[in-house]
Amino acid sequence: MIDFVRVQPDIRWREEVSSAEVDALHAVAFGHEPTNRDWFAQMQDHSLGWVTARLVHDLVGFVNVAWDGGAHAFVIDTAVSPNHQRERIGSQMVAIAGEHARQAGCEWLHVDFEPSAANFYLRECGFSPTAAGLLRLR
Ligand SMILES: CC(C)(COP(=O)(O)OP(=O)(O)OC[C@H]1O[C@@H](n2cnc3c(N)ncnc32)[C@H](O)[C@@H]1OP(=O)(O)O)[C@@H](O)C(=O)NCCC(=O)NCCS
Repeated sequence: MIDFVRVQPDIRWREEVSSAEVDALHAVAFGHEPTNRDWFAQMQDHSLGWVTARLVHDLVGFVNVAWDGGAHAFVIDTAVSPNHQRERIGSQMVAIAGEHARQAGCEWLHVDFEPSAANFYLRECGFSPTAAGLLRLR
């Protein structure tokens, strides 16, 4: 019998990552065309931090953590490569994001999500359901 040993991803906080890598992963995970967005510059200027997950050298997971500069941090852009979903990469990354937000003095970690991600955030990542609102501005 073959015993499959799953390689553990290398998960890091604020690792230097190329915008092209993040863009490609985001596009394949969310199912949109690639963009020319300069993710790394935007994250450095506006994020508390971000989490990357690599298998060997490939970027297979990403979480961006926006911040109000005080008590509130916001998980956005959570993406795991379709080839590696349901391998606990997403939940490990969100836990690391929460730990770093806590260390930065945040009291609350927010997220909003499509109904399809409810199990992931509420059951696996420990978020509580709450009322929230979203306004499309353009
Ligand atoms: C949502 C997402 C980040 C989850 O990452 P992941 O690494 O696959 O999640 P995990 O392996 O840590 O998930 C563990 C658990 O979360 C739940 N879960 C994860 N994905 C799920 C899905 N598509 N449907 C239902 N439950 C899901 C399950 O309970 C799962 O446990 P199980 O595999 O034992 O059933 C990933 O599927 C993804 O990138 N999706 C596309 C982009 C997206 O929708 N991002 C979130 C919106 S903000």
